[in-house]
Amino acid sequence: MLLIAGSSGCGKTTLARCINGLIPRSYRGELTGKALLYGKEIAKLQIPEMAQTVGTLLQDPERQIVASNVFNEIAFGPENLGLPRDEIYTRVEQAMKRLNIEYLAERETFNLSGGEKQKSGIGRCADDESIYFVVR
Ligand SMILES: Nc1ncnc2c1ncn2[C@@H]1O[C@H](COP(=O)(O)OP(=O)(O)OP(=O)(O)O)[C@@H](O)[C@H]1O
Ligand SMILES: [Mg+2]
Repeated sequence: MLLIAGSSGCGKTTLARCINGLIPRSYRGELTGKALLYGKEIAKLQIPEMAQTVGTLLQDPERQIVASNVFNEIAFGPENLGLPRDEIYTRVEQAMKRLNIEYLAERETFNLSGGEKQKSGIGRCADDESIYFVVR
C-alpha cells in the first residue's frame, strides 16, 4: 500500500487521473512527460486494457454505487471486463473474503454504513493484482 499525501492543491488527484488515464482523455490541458503503467505509456493504452489493471474509488462511495445488493455491486467490476460467468463469481467471492465482507453479500447497498460502502467499492474496482486508488 502506498499513501500519497500532500497539501491541498499539490496535485494528488491530478496524479491519480494521470494513472487511471482520465488525463489526457477526459481533461483538457497541456500534458508533458509520460506516465507509464508496467512500462506502457498510459496515454496510449486502450481503455479496456487499462481497466484490467487500474481502478478508482472516489472519496464519496455513494457516487459510484450501481447495484442494489453487495454481491451484484462487486460483480459489476468483473462484468465490465467481459469475464465469463464462473470467473465473475470466483472474483466476487475472493473480493468479499479478502475484505471480510462475506456477510454483506445479500445486503442492500443503500442500507450499508459508509465504511461498508467503501469496502464494497474496493471489491468492485480491485482484484488481488490490481492497482486501485481511493481518491480524495
Ligand atoms: N502537474 C501539474 N501541472 C499543472 N497543474 C497541476 C498539476 N498538478 C495539479 N495541477 C493543478 O493544481 C490544482 C490542484 O490539483 P489537484 O486537484 O490534483 O490537487 P490535490 O492535491 O488533489 O488537492 P486537494 O487535497 O485539495 O484535493 C488543479 O487546478 C490542477 O489542475
Ligand atoms: Mg484532490
